[in-house]
Order: sequence, then structure tokens, then C-alpha cells
Amino acid sequence: MTSLTVLSEPITARDADWWRQATVYQIYPRSFADASGDGIGDLAGIVSRIPYLRELGVDAVWLSPFYPSALADGGYDVDDYRDVDPRIGTLEEFDEMVAALHGAGIRLVVDIVPNHSSDRHEWFRAALAAPKGSPERERYIFRDGKGENGELPPADWEAAFGGLAWEPVGDGQWYLHTFAPEQPDFNWDSREVRDDFLETLRFWSDRGVDGFRVDVANLLVKDLSEPLPSAAELRAFDEAAGEHPLASRDEVHEIYAEWRELFDRYDPPRTAVAEAWVPTARQRARFASPSSLGQAFSFDLLEADFDAAQFRDIIDDNLAESRASGASSTWVFSNHDVTRHATRYGLPPRAGSTTKQGTEWVAQGGPEEQLDRELGERRARAATMLQLALPGSAYLYQGEELGLHEVADIAPDERQDPAFFRGLNATKDGLGRDGCRVPLPWASDGPSFGFGPARPHLPQPEWFGASSVEAQAGDPSSTLSLYREALALRRELQSDETLEWLEEISAGDVLAFSRPNGWVSVTNFGSAPVDLPDGEVLLSSSPLEGGRLPGAATAWIRS
Ligand code: NOJ
Repeated sequence: MTSLTVLSEPITARDADWWRQATVYQIYPRSFADASGDGIGDLAGIVSRIPYLRELGVDAVWLSPFYPSALADGGYDVDDYRDVDPRIGTLEEFDEMVAALHGAGIRLVVDIVPNHSSDRHEWFRAALAAPKGSPERERYIFRDGKGENGELPPADWEAAFGGLAWEPVGDGQWYLHTFAPEQPDFNWDSREVRDDFLETLRFWSDRGVDGFRVDVANLLVKDLSEPLPSAAELRAFDEAAGEHPLASRDEVHEIYAEWRELFDRYDPPRTAVAEAWVPTARQRARFASPSSLGQAFSFDLLEADFDAAQFRDIIDDNLAESRASGASSTWVFSNHDVTRHATRYGLPPRAGSTTKQGTEWVAQGGPEEQLDRELGERRARAATMLQLALPGSAYLYQGEELGLHEVADIAPDERQDPAFFRGLNATKDGLGRDGCRVPLPWASDGPSFGFGPARPHLPQPEWFGASSVEAQAGDPSSTLSLYREALALRRELQSDETLEWLEEISAGDVLAFSRPNGWVSVTNFGSAPVDLPDGEVLLSSSPLEGGRLPGAATAWIRS
């Protein structure tokens, strides 16, 4: 094994392509580090941990929403797009954080939430105070209810977190919320809405933000012509063909063309990555094109089983898609919306699903009694090393570098996720998304495992101590050490975005490919050890057994 020091230079270079093969680390700010002592993570906490990020070796941070919010949906309910939640910090602290990150050679991507605001946004409050038909109501999606006095909803559509997607406002009108009732959808036909978002993008770009992660980028434009379809009719529309009235409509790209024009006025151009769970690769590629947002998350690997054939198909498809769109590929295994990959990979395939664990598991934390923790961690380490060897951007989620599992054991009255309370997954015994949002363990003990001086806003389990940064930092066999070494090697070895399958080794449970500079990655998805090709073993996700690669492991070799 080689040991490498991390070399990160302050950001001065105007490298327009910095994002193409960046390692981006997602911070869910309320659960990262709490400096103020109120149990909620904050910007000062992030600044205090920049040395950690630097040692980890990431190129950029993606910061989930930090805006003022009542937290009806973990901050994805934004009260004010051009401010910082006072519990998290101030605009001055934001500027200090940007300077400190840049000084450490780390870029900053911020989350932007354009489909909906919170119901406390001043525009929504003004809309409620204004009469039907007013310009204030034009910024959101209001419709008359049915029935004699509008007492029935305009349509029976279901919201993404469960329950009805329309909420009455007491005067016969109802407003649309694709997510929670506290998240009213904007009307993107309104020029005022479009201009206001351009203003917001300028505001953060001027403050030195390097890029944006665009929340539910495919949902903004809706065809709401009357009569509105029923929920059953909605389900029958073909989203893949661009025919769905509420999702993945072609016209949404007009919005991003305007955004791109704005981004390209900066030097280097601001980047953007679409969060768009669209049905086809072709649709995803449109968000990723250089005239649109420039990059789009692929959740294909995240949804796959730990399976060589599935991984290979997905990698081939995604690389082909990137060649066609001009974007680089994106690889993701974990984020704040899904069960951590160490846990997914330690759970048995769901009954009735023969080949794919399926998206049902993605949003679940259990059943914990069926979880093989060690197997899950081994596979997660192997998958991450494979990910880090692929051409394109790797998006990591805070805590995965500690091999953290999902926290399934959170009492209902301590949970926060609206998806848990509003019935999403209820029929599948789902636990919602709180289990991957538990504040990070920095220390091996203490009341918050070093997260901060106060009781954290979500409870941490006892086993967090053994997974903490403190417990792992000095242990060369820990997952944290593996991530550090892998990221340092990735920086050293990364070159162009090509990959060549090593067909003589890639068979059955084994996937092997080479990158330029003699960098070879071999993953054994099975359980029996396999031979490795000749060359210097740079790193392996689990110790080799008699020079062979054990099951559920990846090794990097310099040929
Ligand atoms: C996607 C975000 O990742 C998720 O956390 C949020 O609940 C929805 N969009 C609504 O904003």
C-alpha cells in the first residue's frame, strides 16, 4: 500500500473544467458539526472541520439548504432564498466559509430549491392575504375548488410525501404542493418568478459560490390547462415520452437556458447539477447538456444491487450518455434522501424482487434484524473504490467515509421527516429519511459524540462511538483511512475521461477496467477470492488473502 499526503492548493486558478472529475462531498448542514451549541449544525461548525475535509481530500462541498426555514422538509422549504437561517449562521459567516473553503482548495456548490418555496416565504404570505385573481396569487398555483363553494379539491392528485397535493386556503381556492403542504409550488409561467430566481443565482454567484445543485429540476414547468386530469389519468401519462403534464416537460429547458446564460457570465462559469429522477437517459442528458445545467445526477448505481452485470451495464450506459451530452458522468451511492449504501448492501433482496433490490429499499432503514452490518460495510467500501476509479464526478455523502449505517432506531416522536409522518412508504414499513441525517460522530464518546456541546437535534445511537472520526482516524484499516488514501490516489492518477474494460478478467462476478496512467481497478462482487492481474497493488478495500482479492472487495493496481 502506498501512503500519500494530500496536496490541495488554494483556489486561484480559473479552471472552467474543475467539476468534470471532481469529488464532491455533500454536507447536510444541520447534522454536520454544531459550533454554536444549540444542537443544530452550523456554518461555523463547517469552518471548524475544513482541516478534516482537506485531509479527506475532496475537491468540493455541496451544501444542502442552509436558508431560513421552519424545517417542514429539512430545509427544502425555503423562507428566503437570499439569506442564511439564523440558527445556522449569518451572511457574513457564509462569506467567511467561502473564503476558508477556497483557501483550503475546496469549491462550494449550494442547493437551490426552485420548484417550491416554504409557506412562510413573503410571497406566499402575500398571496394568502391577497384576493383570488390577484398578481400575488399568480406567483403560485392557485385554482378554484370544486363543489358549490369550492370545498372540494380541484383534483385528487397525491403529494409526493403522501396525502392530497392541494390545500384549501378558506376562500374557495386551493394551492398546489407537490411535496408537503408547507411547500407551495411556484408558477414558473410567471416572469416575476423567473426573474427572481435569476436574481438569487446572481446573489450567490457574486458571493463566490462555484455551482448549484438544482432540486427536482424536472418538475418546474407544468401544463395545468383545464380540465385538470384525475390522479388515475395522471398515472397513465407517459413521462418518458415527455407527455406528463407535471414532470419532465420540454419547456423546462427554456428556464435552464436562461440560467446557463447567467452562469457563463462568470469566470469560471458557475456549474450546476440537476437532481432529476427522470425515466430515460435521453431526458437526463438534456439537463446535463452544456446549454442547460451542464451535469445531472445519475441514480442508476444507487438503485442497483451489488451485482457485476448491473454495474457494468450502468457504467457503459452512463459513459455513452456523457459522450453524447458533453457532460461528465456522475456517480452516487448515498445522499440525504436514501438509506445509506452500507445498509442497503447488508440487507437481503426484497421478497418478490429477484434481481433488483429495487427503489423500495432505497428509502428504508430496515428491517434491522435482517441487516448484515459487516457485509454491508465491505460491499460499500468496494463499491466506493470502484466509483472513485470511474471517469467523472463522484458525489459522496457526509458520514459514508466512516462506513456509517442507517440509524433505524429513532422513536416516532423524535423523527422529523415529513415523508415519515405523511405516509410515504407507510405501506412498506418505511422509516423515512431521518436515519441517514443523524448528526455525525466526531468523537468516540461524550453526549453528542463530538458533534457539539448540546444534545443533537436527532438522537445518535450507541454504536456511533465506534464509527467516529476519532475512533478511525489513526487506524490504517478503517473506512476513513481507506477513503483518505483512495481520494489521494484518485487525485494523483486521474487524467482523461476514458475507461477500458479488461475483458480477460471481467467475467462472472468480477469487473475490471483500466484508466490511463496504468491505473487498474478490479472488483470482486462474489464471495470466493479471485486472482489479481500483475502489477503493484496500490490499495484494496479489504485485505488481500494470499495475494488474491477476497469477495466483496475492490483493489487498485498500477500495471
Ligand atoms: C429532493 C430533495 O433531495 C429532498 O430532500 C426534498 O424533500 C425534495 N426534493 C423536495 O424539495
